[in-house]
Amino acid sequence: MDAKNKIYVLPELPYAYDALKPYISEEQLRIHHDKHHAAYVAAANALLESLEKARQGNTDLDYGTVAKQLSFNTGGHRLHSLYWKNLTPVDNTGKAPKPSGEIGNAIDREFGSFDRFKKEFSQTAAKTEGSGWAVLSFCREVERPIIMQVEKHNMNVTPRRPVILVLDVWEHAYYLDYKNDRAKYVENFWNIVNWDEVGRRLADL
Ligand SMILES: [Fe+2]
Repeated sequence: MDAKNKIYVLPELPYAYDALKPYISEEQLRIHHDKHHAAYVAAANALLESLEKARQGNTDLDYGTVAKQLSFNTGGHRLHSLYWKNLTPVDNTGKAPKPSGEIGNAIDREFGSFDRFKKEFSQTAAKTEGSGWAVLSFCREVERPIIMQVEKHNMNVTPRRPVILVLDVWEHAYYLDYKNDRAKYVENFWNIVNWDEVGRRLADL
């Protein structure tokens, strides 16, 4: 048998399940990571397996549906992987983290101030209809940070526009802690953003 193709793997969280308290509870984080994210990984791998089987047996699948499901599940996996890493435990000072260095400069240049950026990103998150994400990307064509929405997990392919910060606004991300108060969840998100990670993503482009 040939070497097995790689498959998607659920990443471990880069901190303890209770590390984001009081803004995200242990129970909320466990369900989100262990159930929801894990389900996208499993579904993505099942799709890859069904594609392999169809190729080996020279049979057909409904490729429109498969492509849509692949976009959804691999997108869900990628976005959640980014999300866990762009969150960080609250530091001892109790102060909300702020961007500095290149990412701080890029935000100031584009938005005029960090507060203005927070306002635009928060409103984008609040106004994402149904399930989706608020996303900060950095477009290499114009060398500018751009806020976008992602519907469900269907992040379409965007070459030269890497994603550097994401916020999950699916209800499954906050309903245990915040019920239907998405605005409060978004407000508290700013207390646990890992700006060092966001800055590294920008530097690595
Ligand atoms: Fe999620």
